[in-house]
Amino acid sequence: MMKENNKNERIQKIISNYGSYSRREIEKLIKDKLVKIDGEIAKLGDKANINSDIRILNKKLTLNLKQEYYVLNKPKGYICSRVDEKNKTAISLINNYKNKNIFSIGRLDVNTTGLLIITNDGYLSNYITLPKNKIRKTYLVWYQKKLTKENIFNLKNGIKIDENYITKKLANLKVIDNEKKFVIRITLIEGKNNQIKKMFIALENKVINLKRIQIEDLKLNSLEIGKYKKYSKQEIYNFLNVRENKNEA
Ligand code: URA
Repeated sequence: MMKENNKNERIQKIISNYGSYSRREIEKLIKDKLVKIDGEIAKLGDKANINSDIRILNKKLTLNLKQEYYVLNKPKGYICSRVDEKNKTAISLINNYKNKNIFSIGRLDVNTTGLLIITNDGYLSNYITLPKNKIRKTYLVWYQKKLTKENIFNLKNGIKIDENYITKKLANLKVIDNEKKFVIRITLIEGKNNQIKKMFIALENKVINLKRIQIEDLKLNSLEIGKYKKYSKQEIYNFLNVRENKNEA
C-alpha cells in the first residue's frame, strides 16, 4: 500500500508524462477501471507519484522511448477505440499492435474511411485535438441530393447543429460534382462529434460516404484502403505543422 504522503500528483498527469496516452485516452482508461495504483483500481483525480506501481491493462507503466507514427487508410467497419471486444479496431490493422501502446489521434466514425494517425505520442495527440490549434482536416463528402446555393453558403459560414452550436467557418469548400455524383470537398478547423453528418442533416440532406483525405499538410495520397505507412517523428511533425514549444495541453 502506498504511503499517503507520497501521493503528490494526479494520476492523469503522471500517465500523461509518460507520453504514451492522450488525455482523453487516459480518462477513458480510468473510467473503464483499467488503471491500477498499487493494486487498487484508480479513480479520476486519485494521486500517486512516479514510484507508485501504476498498471494499465495490467501492464506496468514504463517510459516509452520510441515514438511511432502510422498513417492508416481506415476502412469502413473499424472503430477508433483502443480496446473493444465486439468490434474490429482500426489499431488492429497495425502489425504487432498488441505489443505497442498505440492509439488513434481523434476519431473517425465506424463508416468513415480515410486518414487516421496512429501513434504512441501523447503530446502530438493533445496538440492535434486541442481546439485552439485549429488543425485543418479535409474530407470528401458524398451526399444524397443537390445542394442549393444557400446550402453551400450555410455550409461555408455556419450551420446550427446540436441544440445550440453553430459550426465555425470552413477553411475551404470545393464543389466537385453537384449534378450527378454529389461530391464536395470541405476543410474544417474543428471536429465536433459527427459534425459533417449533422451539418448535412441540418440541410435536410444526408451523407452517403465520408472520407478524410488530409490533416494539415499530411495527405492520404494513394494509400490503399486498410494499408498504412510509417513516418518518422520529424516527417509527421513537419506535415502537421506542429510547433513543439507551444500549446502544451
Ligand atoms: N464528421 C463526421 O460526421 N464523421 C466523421 O467520422 C468525421 C467528421
